[in-house]
Amino acid sequence: MKIALGSDHAGFRLKEDIKEFLQSEGYDFEDFGAFSEDSMDYPDIARSAAEAVAEGKFDRGVLICGTGLGVSITANKVRGIRAALCSDEYTARMSRQHNNANILALGGRVIGVELAREIVRVFLTTGFDAGSRHAKRVAKIER
Ligand code: RB5
Repeated sequence: MKIALGSDHAGFRLKEDIKEFLQSEGYDFEDFGAFSEDSMDYPDIARSAAEAVAEGKFDRGVLICGTGLGVSITANKVRGIRAALCSDEYTARMSRQHNNANILALGGRVIGVELAREIVRVFLTTGFDAGSRHAKRVAKIER
């Protein structure tokens, strides 16, 4: 599984922690930035990472800003992206099982590192309930 990872300055620290986690779990990923805590605009990185996921270059994305709102709003403007802002494991699980979310958005100023790691773990290891009532709903989103 190939993952597109990105953040703005407010999500930078958590992104670095998640990067370490992905490395330790053996995931293949690309870091789209930010590469420091210097102020930058989250739509720039959220858009390029989301487009790369939508184009099929990556299987999933993990995007982080201060609240997770800016990156999720941006990513959801890209056709084919279903970005889910999650602050708990249950929502992360449902975002995969019911919504087939392909991008996870996190708030670096909202949740701690350990919780974020568990949310990422759940997001990357939970499958979509394909063939269920949820498939037709996700198809409607796409239409
Ligand atoms: C940056 O200050 C902050 O606005 C940004 O990281 C994000 O939370 C926006 O939604």
